[in-house]
Amino acid sequence: MSALGKVVVLGAGNIGGSLAQRLAELDLAREVTLVDIIDGLPQGKALDLQESAPILGFSTRVTGATSLDALAGADVVVETAGLARKPGMSRSDLLEKNAAIVKGHAEAVRAHAPNAVVVVVTNPVDVMTYYFRQVSGLPAPRVFGESGTLDTARFRTFVAEALHVAPRDVTSFVLGTHGDTMVPILSLSSVGGVPLSKLLPPDRLAAIVERAKQGGAEIVNLLKTGSAFYAPTASQAELVSAVATDAHRLLPVAAHLNGEFGEKDVYVGVPVVLGRQGVERVVEVDLTPAERSAFAASVAAVRADLALLGKAPG
Ligand code: 2OP
Repeated sequence: MSALGKVVVLGAGNIGGSLAQRLAELDLAREVTLVDIIDGLPQGKALDLQESAPILGFSTRVTGATSLDALAGADVVVETAGLARKPGMSRSDLLEKNAAIVKGHAEAVRAHAPNAVVVVVTNPVDVMTYYFRQVSGLPAPRVFGESGTLDTARFRTFVAEALHVAPRDVTSFVLGTHGDTMVPILSLSSVGGVPLSKLLPPDRLAAIVERAKQGGAEIVNLLKTGSAFYAPTASQAELVSAVATDAHRLLPVAAHLNGEFGEKDVYVGVPVVLGRQGVERVVEVDLTPAERSAFAASVAAVRADLALLGKAPG
């Protein structure tokens, strides 16, 4: 039997379509529903995915809809809708337009799926997660954003390439905002438990940190017409899976802080334990003084965007 009843993916673009595929293939839910305002897009992608089931062997029913009424009965909602970056744009440049989309969706979740766990992906993700929580009125632990799992995956990839080791053996945490001021925590990075600082010289590590920070922009510049979706949806599927299976995974997500890491009333990337009800707890880790001040700068960048949106409480 599937772990979940229904997952609704809002937005059937590159992210939405790829995520629906990953979720269906993981066979986590009885139904995965793609929702988009462009008539035909969610239905077409859903049918195409459904027709892969006999070959791939999953039982999940994949459906498509244009109405937000499809949110009814959702156990998990993934908000992917919104504009993606084009070359030269920062994630913050998307703020106003994506906020309008997120607002409508958060109101619909409040009306149709008030018991759902919500994963927000729309950029700038830390701000959009805050806004989604605020508009939906859902409890903060049940709304979190995808960021650190993706940024960490990029960092782990580049470390694995540099050391010629299996990517999955590289462990790391990237905290702070999903933006230029993200903070890879080198003191918590290792390969199979061996500290990274013992395996790579500081200049190589610094170059990898910089490439990971610019990882999203590197893909945007290559694609020219949109942003990354394979690594992002792998990361989102990992998060949905942790919720679906009540796995208590320790992963970095954009979570609501209420005093942890010395911050209040903000969403930003931190390590959390993730289970069926969303964020079970924020895991406070010791940071070096340099990491602490980089984290504070990252939080300040999120607060600046919240102020731009007019949603910051002072
Ligand atoms: C990225 O980093 C889309 O923000 C996402 O690729």
